[in-house]
Amino acid sequence: MDKLLIYGGARLDGEVRISGAKNAVLPILAATLLADGPMRVANVPHLHDVTTMMELLGRMGVSLTVDERMGIETDTKGIHTLRAAYELVKTMRASILVLGPLVARFGEAEVSLPGGCAIGSRPVNLHVDGLRAMGADITVEGGYIRAKAGRLHGARLVLDVITVTGTENLMMAAVLAEGRTIIENAAREPEVVDLANCLIAMGANIEGAGTDTITIHGVERLNGCDYDILPDRIETGTFLVAGAISGGRVRVKRTYASIVDSVLQKLRATGAEVRVGEDWIELDMHGERPRAVDLQTAPYPAFPTDMQAQFTALNAVADGVASITETVFENRFMHVQELQRMGASIQVNGNTAIVRGVPELTGAPVMATDLRASASLILAGLVAKGETLVDRIYHIDRGYECIEEKLAQLGARIRRVAG
Ligand code: EPU
Repeated sequence: MDKLLIYGGARLDGEVRISGAKNAVLPILAATLLADGPMRVANVPHLHDVTTMMELLGRMGVSLTVDERMGIETDTKGIHTLRAAYELVKTMRASILVLGPLVARFGEAEVSLPGGCAIGSRPVNLHVDGLRAMGADITVEGGYIRAKAGRLHGARLVLDVITVTGTENLMMAAVLAEGRTIIENAAREPEVVDLANCLIAMGANIEGAGTDTITIHGVERLNGCDYDILPDRIETGTFLVAGAISGGRVRVKRTYASIVDSVLQKLRATGAEVRVGEDWIELDMHGERPRAVDLQTAPYPAFPTDMQAQFTALNAVADGVASITETVFENRFMHVQELQRMGASIQVNGNTAIVRGVPELTGAPVMATDLRASASLILAGLVAKGETLVDRIYHIDRGYECIEEKLAQLGARIRRVAG
């Protein structure tokens, strides 16, 4: 199994290009199931999760053509199986995103329940309840969600909890339903908006994406379209933190500031100088040690849970004491124990971590537990004294395109080793 070997201490300096957003491309690939005709998705990042989604669609009979430059072309005319098997779903929870499109277009689906994961229990009850309210007959047995429906009908759906993939699944179901669907307490993440824009380009009638109330008027059929995926805001934030933690200067390109407002606000609070252009952001720490910043995660536009682990690493070496509260997932402090092995001083009480910055971390062998936890260990390794070896990096390959190459381009001493 590959590992990442990092020699800490290099101050990062340079530019890096941000890839398309993982959490936008996954629902958009699922949305290609709704297209009556070929579709092309561009700015697709090379990620393990994208390969998994392609495999899931391919097994259903969707034809997929990958062109390095143009992106992925899909065609659904050969679909023969309306099933997402446990074997694939267990490796990627976002597989649940095929449920809404399959039920809406084909009136049938059999999708394995994702089960728990390293960051929390992560139920999908709101996906299921919403589809039931739209007329689907759903049973859960043998670990599978089995759905049958005639044409779905519009409904008023009030989500108890703000859920990103739940909002996306229900929006994809509603676009082909008869009549009007209103999703209240909808997620406002930029990836929800990107999916809505793609569905609109396919012929859907959707208003309000990006607000907490989304209104969808169902149409009879959707076409394919050409669509470019928005930049990854979490990759954007992670590289900016890499600049800040190393006291360096990093410019991220092919991305924009409005999708990372809350993150930029916290980075400025560390003492970083942040400048923004139309399609770039530059952070300069001018060789200074960052100041500690308190934060609390919450749904967009508040501070993202997917940036919490990276800011825990940043605070671990910052000047001062920070309080970090995680409100989205119940078990998202798995990186703390590994950071402690590198000399970090962090105390977790319930969903709050108190981080006392230390002047220096020391390199150690550490183990990644989930995608964003892996990113935090790499960030810590960049500034730790000596050598850090990050194990189980398959987590990082799920969500960061060529992370070691991009960091090396900025001057980091990092390489992948077979282990
Ligand atoms: N929830 C329920 N019932 C449901 C659905 C969700 O109680 O039916 C709860 C969850 O247990 C959680 C909260 O709602 O406590 C929010 O979860 P959400 O459903 O929004 O998460 P998700 O859609 O499964 C997406 C991202 C995650 C990201 C979260 C929160 C994708 C493919 N995944 O997950 O991304 O952390 O939203 O922003 O979009 C990552 O990229 O590393 C990642 C984990």
